[in-house]
Amino acid sequence: MKDPLDRLRDLLLETGYTIDGVRERLGDVAATALSREELVPALRATRDGDPLGTLIRLWWLGIPVEPPPGLPVAELAAAGLLTANGDRIVAAVHLQPWETGGYVVSDRKVRPGDPTLRADHVVGAGGASANLAQLVSRRPVQRVLDLGTGCGVQVLHLVDRAEEIVATDVNPRALELARLSWALSGVEGVDARVGSLFEPVEGERFDLIVSNPPFVISPRGRFTYRESGLRGDDFCRDLVRQAPGLLNPGGTCQLLANWLHIEGEDWRDRVGGWLTETGRDGWAVQRDVQDPAEYVELWLRDAAEQGTPRYRELYDDWLGWFEAENVTGVGFGWITLHDSGSLDPVVRVEEYGGRVELPVGGYVDEVLGSIGRAHRMTDAELLAARLRLARGVVEERIGSPGAEDPTTIMLRQTRGLGRAARVGTVEAALAGVCDGDYPLAPLLSAIADLTGDDPGDLLSKAPESLRTLIAEGFFHISTG
Ligand SMILES: C[S@@+](CC[C@H](N)C(=O)[O-])C[C@H]1O[C@@H](n2cnc3c(N)ncnc32)[C@H](O)[C@@H]1O
Repeated sequence: MKDPLDRLRDLLLETGYTIDGVRERLGDVAATALSREELVPALRATRDGDPLGTLIRLWWLGIPVEPPPGLPVAELAAAGLLTANGDRIVAAVHLQPWETGGYVVSDRKVRPGDPTLRADHVVGAGGASANLAQLVSRRPVQRVLDLGTGCGVQVLHLVDRAEEIVATDVNPRALELARLSWALSGVEGVDARVGSLFEPVEGERFDLIVSNPPFVISPRGRFTYRESGLRGDDFCRDLVRQAPGLLNPGGTCQLLANWLHIEGEDWRDRVGGWLTETGRDGWAVQRDVQDPAEYVELWLRDAAEQGTPRYRELYDDWLGWFEAENVTGVGFGWITLHDSGSLDPVVRVEEYGGRVELPVGGYVDEVLGSIGRAHRMTDAELLAARLRLARGVVEERIGSPGAEDPTTIMLRQTRGLGRAARVGTVEAALAGVCDGDYPLAPLLSAIADLTGDDPGDLLSKAPESLRTLIAEGFFHISTG
């Protein structure tokens, strides 16, 4: 006799309760309405009483339904996935198909008007979970740690490229639900441990550490899924500080984070300081920044607290705390740390709010390698190196119609972070000829012949601008 979770998984797949199946059934209008917490279009799209519509109502929308044929009700009730109520069943959890082809089990969503969240609420997989998964390195690894695994979603992304996975969470309930997610996704052998921060893995080493931590910055820790209870952005700072001590040589740590913008302090110094202290290569990217009021509204909405009697009081308390701490905003972003073994680590902190090509993981590996190499090479080493234009870089020339020379030349990345850089004619000419076949110095001399520049002058000036273009991923240093 098959395990009830295996039977449920078969039934979910047969019924079409998959990402594509749900998307197709709901259609764009109902799906977009759901993202605004509006249920009515989705209820209309699932009113036929067929098995797929019934499963969507049960586990996605949280509506009591009559059990569809073949659902092992008693066993699933015993497993904590539903409760039976007369001839109807009610979801005890939120069970969503996920983009890996697996399933994620979390606590039921709260919507405006529902009772307030419990303090140990286990949040479902969402935009932030997907962002981290897209950011994580694609390299196969031996040992990986998912800190703050919650519903277990990161593990679903890591399982194909890690030999051994340890998943931790301070909330024991999270691990119970994560185990259900893994079982329903056919994932076995995850070493799940309860505990705070790195305490459950003290003294161990990993090749990759990932975390979508409780990064929300608030006056007090009300909900474990998003607030650590530590002051300000201390939790993210502590993660950054402590992670390198658990990395194997060559290892990488990738996390999402929030950081404070404090009056009179540059946020780059704050986050750069965390990274520099580690003595490892680091890259932090601020993807967004919100003012205090926007931030408070976002997270009160997230806990469905808008419109409740306490809304104004909570809003005022939070805003008052930001004011007392001289907070002018909160940054959202990514942090990557890499143990390159270098005695001269490189830290890069930047703002990039533009679109990125997904997944970013492969590109992150490239960028970290490039930042380090470009920084550590002497001018002479760089001139002797062979450069290659990165894949997907295009050139744009802007000038007056009919003019012989453009006034602006841009190199633009069509993949990765999609950066653009304004360059001079020399860099543009290099972009046209750099295919990794020849060292930089003879190429620059040939360009000097064409442009009429003094070759010595060009050779002495070019490394500086090229170092930036290499660090930003426009050129790679050929290693082969
Ligand atoms: C934002 S959720 C992330 C869940 C999931 N990993 C994802 O990517 O969606 C953060 C998780 O960190 C856990 N957490 C909170 N405080 C923690 C701590 N001190 N140590 C470890 N985990 C903690 C929460 O219980 C929660 O499951």
